[in-house]
Amino acid sequence: MDSLRSKENLNQFEKIFGKTNSSPRLFEAPARINIIGEHVDYLGGIVLPAAINFSVQVYLRPNQSETYQLHSIAYNETIPLKKPLRPNLQSSWTDYIAGVIVEIESLGHSVPGFDLLVDGNIPQGSGLSSSAALEVVTGYAISESFGLKISKEKIAIIGQKAENNFVGTKCGIMDQFIIAVGKENDCISLNTDTLSYSYHHFDLGDHEFYLINSNVKHNLKESAYNKRRSECESALQKIQANYPKWNQLYDVTLTVEELKKCGLTSEELKRTIHVISERERTKLVIKGLESNQLQSVGDSLFETHESLSKQFEVSCEETDFIVFHLKKLGVIGARMIGGGFGGCVLVLDKQNRFEKISEEMKKSYQQKFNIALDFYKFQISDGVKEISI
Ligand code: GLA
Repeated sequence: MDSLRSKENLNQFEKIFGKTNSSPRLFEAPARINIIGEHVDYLGGIVLPAAINFSVQVYLRPNQSETYQLHSIAYNETIPLKKPLRPNLQSSWTDYIAGVIVEIESLGHSVPGFDLLVDGNIPQGSGLSSSAALEVVTGYAISESFGLKISKEKIAIIGQKAENNFVGTKCGIMDQFIIAVGKENDCISLNTDTLSYSYHHFDLGDHEFYLINSNVKHNLKESAYNKRRSECESALQKIQANYPKWNQLYDVTLTVEELKKCGLTSEELKRTIHVISERERTKLVIKGLESNQLQSVGDSLFETHESLSKQFEVSCEETDFIVFHLKKLGVIGARMIGGGFGGCVLVLDKQNRFEKISEEMKKSYQQKFNIALDFYKFQISDGVKEISI
């Protein structure tokens, strides 16, 4: 992966915004993977994500004005924003920053003007959460630069609210949370109902996780995401009319026959089957990782993919093809990760098979879709932090 041009970006910052006697500070937030617990983080479910070593970096310097001057290296543009902040239809990358400012101010803090430069190497649309990383790094940079002392957990919630209210995607809390609190070599198990979490280090022995980027992003992603979420909410309402004891779809323990009697539509039924079966697979995966039974972990990953594809209907032809072929090549486990409709597949396999698998997969994917696949080995890394310069 490209390493970030921190030094060059500092020069660039001073070229665009001018040199003053105070230097900008540099902050960095990682990407994330999720081992298990997909599409359950807005339903009170358990998720098992980890931060990984792709990142978004921002330089930030207060500018003693009322303007937020934002520059993106990727888009090569500088956008000035003034209050009242509104979604920007032309340069929507600024929405992740503006949304965070609005959410911080809604907590009663004031966010004075600043100059900010952003750069990153998280492939966009890859399902590795480049937008959550931008939200979290912005929140942290503002909190540190203006002495607001907002906890990392709170910054995660601010990022999620920015995405829900300003950007308009009704995402759950997983991405922002792990990007905020991640720790080198550890994943977390996060209860998205209570937000309690713990760190876990799993020894994979002679096995490894890696990622395959399908390099496709289907554009129904945001609207379909919100639709899935509302289907889950309406399913819960119908279930509650018969069984008022359940507050979360994730906790429901009914059989398919019992669910059918609640009057769910076929979509609501399929979504519910995914959510409650994902709960059982999550237990198996945690147990398997703890006891080093990686074959059972891999089987659950394949089952999650099948469920995301057939029941939750958030996969696509390309990621289905990748997982199907990986299974034929005998990898231990694989599944799409993140919101879906393209993006990355997470693979679990024996360490010595990477070269062979990547060669064969690249060939068959190119033949079928005429698109190149990217393979990423990664390290589990820290959450958001300041980088000293
Ligand atoms: C996206 C969202 C997350 C989560 C995943 C699916 O990454 O941002 O909140 O819902 O999809 O698990």
